[in-house]
Amino acid sequence: MKTHSIHVCRDCGTTSPRWVGRCPGCAAWNSLDEEKVATRTLASAQTPPTVALHTIGADTDTRWSTGVTELDRVLGGGLLAGSTTLLFGEPGVGKSTLALMSLRALALTGASVLLIGAEESAGQVAQRARRLGPVPEGLDVATTTSVATALALIDERRPQVCVIDSISAMSDDDLGGVAGSVSQVRNAAARLCNMAKATSTALILVGHVTKDGELAGPRALEHLVDTVVRIEGDRYGTLRVVRALKHRFGPTGEVGLLEMGSEGLRDLPDTAMALRQPAQDVPGVVFTVTNDGSRSFLVEVQALVASSSASPRRVAHQVSSQRLSLMLAVLEARCDINVSDLDVFAATAGGIAATEPGVDLALALAVASAALEFAVPRSLVAVGEVGLAGELRAVSGLTRRVREAQRLGADRVIVPTSGDLEDVKGITVRRCTTLVDAISVSRESKY
Ligand code: TYD
Ligand code: MG
Repeated sequence: MKTHSIHVCRDCGTTSPRWVGRCPGCAAWNSLDEEKVATRTLASAQTPPTVALHTIGADTDTRWSTGVTELDRVLGGGLLAGSTTLLFGEPGVGKSTLALMSLRALALTGASVLLIGAEESAGQVAQRARRLGPVPEGLDVATTTSVATALALIDERRPQVCVIDSISAMSDDDLGGVAGSVSQVRNAAARLCNMAKATSTALILVGHVTKDGELAGPRALEHLVDTVVRIEGDRYGTLRVVRALKHRFGPTGEVGLLEMGSEGLRDLPDTAMALRQPAQDVPGVVFTVTNDGSRSFLVEVQALVASSSASPRRVAHQVSSQRLSLMLAVLEARCDINVSDLDVFAATAGGIAATEPGVDLALALAVASAALEFAVPRSLVAVGEVGLAGELRAVSGLTRRVREAQRLGADRVIVPTSGDLEDVKGITVRRCTTLVDAISVSRESKY
């Protein structure tokens, strides 16, 4: 095969025929690497055949349920035959586990499945499979890193669902460049996507990201695949969030909650920490409800203040550090609460990130409660954005949040005066105009 050189951006996958110092796609400096690609000749270009749309039946949109309810929800019902789903996340987050669980569940229902492992031996995959329960017949594994072999396997065996774990480890011997380089990964993904379409295979490509730069990242694959699902979560914690970032055939932005246990990932349809759990009310802890996709999550926001010797530290974990700084400034300037010379730590408990503005009020109250040493009852939930003037601002989906708070056991909720709110039974709603009001309401809430 004839090849020629192109230059590919490490960050975004933009290609350029010549080397340039700055990527024309994402404006990153010095991010272009030279890579070899196959030269297409005129002879290889054919006019594609046309198809009359009415001849295509509805049987082409078979959806394969993955057996993981929360993943199915994110996929809009399951994996669509002929479509390619990119499943990506940081190392150790559970991509291989989730992919294998899906294949296992499908094999149990009699679907033909194939796992193409490019990173682990069949023995290692079998070991993981045994953790998930009895290993069904028909759960076949092939280990290869060659795209050509993978394509031949899919073509020959025609699995209904196939997983490639991982796309980053697949390479094409005809192309130069190391496995994992952007053009290698893109080329492999493009060829596999085409094969999935041609054979009506529902294909899952597992992809890696690193904490910092998304090397040979999913961003370079996003436009090739039909669906992009990210698994998020702290590998040392148990909570995992699956999220559809792109979906050609279903909802985007949908999220699912999973929990990593000793037997794989479990559906976690509710936030486990219901408010009714007996626990002592302590200063610095305030509950809120955050909206994500079509879901609402109860989140425990925690703050700790400590006197600081030198320059005060501000540490935000799973909450936005920018919003934390903002809240500290507002507490200082509008509420007369002195935090400027204190260390402030803020986090969410349990691992759900809460970075949207609706969390402001809980964050500000948590800091105020820690600084002034008063406890906010666990049965009180606070929702609202806080403006620079110390005013509470309306948030989206307020009714949904209040319903979720009520459902999970809150008996009182503080919300902004502005914003639509339908009547929710079984919970007392306190409307507040300013953060100062909200602080005094939460201080007087004794039970
Ligand atoms: P893995 O799926 O290999 O992650 P990835 O493919 O994203 O790198 O699994 C990640 C972690 O999950 C690993 O540290 C072991 C743990 N794990 C469990 O806790 N329970 C289980 O049942 C399995 C299979 C894995
Ligand atoms: Mg893996």
